[in-house]
Amino acid sequence: MPASVVRMSREPALAPEKQKWLDAFRSVRDETERRAAPLTPEDQIIQSMPDASPIKWHRAHTTWFFEQFLLTPHQPEYKPFDDRFAFLFNSYYVSAGPRFSRPQRGLITRPDAAEVTAYRGHVDDAVETLIRDANDALMAELTPIIEIGLNHEQQHQELMLTDILHAFAQNPTFPAYDANWTLPQSRGAAEFVAVPNGIQRIGHGDTSFSFDNEGPAHDVLINPVSVSRSLVTNREWLGFIEDGGYTTPTLWLSDGWATVQNDPWEAPGHWRREGDGWRQMTLGGERAIDLDAPVSHVSYYEADAFARWSGKHLPSEAEWEVAARAGLLDDAYGIVWQWTRSAYAPYPGYAAIEGALGEYNGKFMINQMVLRGSSVATPDDHTRVTYRNFFYPPHRWQFTGLRLASFS
Ligand code: AVJ
Ligand code: FE
Repeated sequence: MPASVVRMSREPALAPEKQKWLDAFRSVRDETERRAAPLTPEDQIIQSMPDASPIKWHRAHTTWFFEQFLLTPHQPEYKPFDDRFAFLFNSYYVSAGPRFSRPQRGLITRPDAAEVTAYRGHVDDAVETLIRDANDALMAELTPIIEIGLNHEQQHQELMLTDILHAFAQNPTFPAYDANWTLPQSRGAAEFVAVPNGIQRIGHGDTSFSFDNEGPAHDVLINPVSVSRSLVTNREWLGFIEDGGYTTPTLWLSDGWATVQNDPWEAPGHWRREGDGWRQMTLGGERAIDLDAPVSHVSYYEADAFARWSGKHLPSEAEWEVAARAGLLDDAYGIVWQWTRSAYAPYPGYAAIEGALGEYNGKFMINQMVLRGSSVATPDDHTRVTYRNFFYPPHRWQFTGLRLASFS
C-alpha cells in the first residue's frame, strides 16, 4: 500500500511537493533538537567566548529566522510567540530591527531551555499549517524562504557542536558531549597531483540550492599547481611544533605573529601539554592526540605558517574547487574544513539577494578567508563543491584544518 494511502486515515494526503517540504522541515528541525538532547539546561546557557553562542540561543535564533522571514510576512494571522524574542534572537540583520549584544548572549537565563522548546513548537506548528494551507502561488513564494531557513538551521547545527566543544574545553573535568565521538582518520594518500590548469569554470550555476555567495559561475585562470590528496595530520603538525614552528617569526604573517605572541599559542586549539606529550579536548572528552587524524582547530595564521614551514602553500579556493571537481581530493568532506589562501570576496557579478536576507552573506565579504569542503560537524546533506565557508584569520574553534598546494 502506498504511503499516501496510509496517511489518508489520519490526515488528508498532500501534494508530493508539499509533503517533501514538510518532511524536510521536520527532519532539519528534529536534527537541531537531537544535537541539543545530550545537553542539560545549564549547558545550554553558557557562552564561553564572544564568537560562540549558547546552545539555547542557536535553538531560538533558528526559530526566529522562520518567524521573521516566513511567518510574519506570509501568514497574516500569525501571532509571535513572544514579542520580546525578536530583540533577543535577531543575530545581525540590521534591516530586521534592533538586537541584543552578541557577546552577552550568555547572560540570558530567561527564556529558559524549556520555554525555547515551547517557542520551537509554536513556530513549527505555524510553519506546518502555512505549508498545508498554501495554494500553488503562495507555495512558490514560500519555498525559497523555507529552503534558506533549513540551510541556515543546518549551519547553526554545526555551530552548536563547535560552540559546546569550546565551552566544555573550559571545564577542567572535560565533559564528553558524546563518549563514542571520533574524528575520522585521514584516508588520503600523501601525494601531490596536478590540478587541471588554464581557464576553468567554478561557482554555482545550476538551479539546485546554493547560498548567494557561491555564484555566479565564472571562469578563472589556474596556473600550473599540484595539490595534496590528503589532509595535514596531527603527526605532521607535531613536526612543526617540535621544529619551533610557533616560535620562529619568519614563518608567520605579521598579524599572525602578533596573535601567537598575544594569546599565546603553542599548539592547535583544544590541545593541552601533559608531560612530554599532548592531549586534545574532543567532543568525546579529553584524549591522547590521535597522530593519524587530520589536524583540526588551527587558524588561518597557523595553516599559513605551516605551509611556509613545509615549503608549500595553501591552495586558492579556485584551485581547490577545480581539483575537487576533477576528483583529485581525498577527505574533501566530512572531516575538517580546509583553509584556502583566498580572501572571502564577491565573485564577478555577485549581487546579494534582495531585502533583509541580503545581509546573510554579502556584508561579511571583508577581512575573512574562505574555507572549502566540510567538517565532521557539518550535516551530511549540507555539502557542495561550490560551498564557501568563511571565518576571520585568527578563528580556530571550528573544525578547521588544511591541505597543501605545491608550485614546484
Ligand atoms: C558561514 C559559518 C560563517 O557562522 O555566521 C549562520 C553561518 N550565517 N547564520 C556564521 C551563518 C547566518 C556563518 N558562517
Ligand atoms: Fe544565523
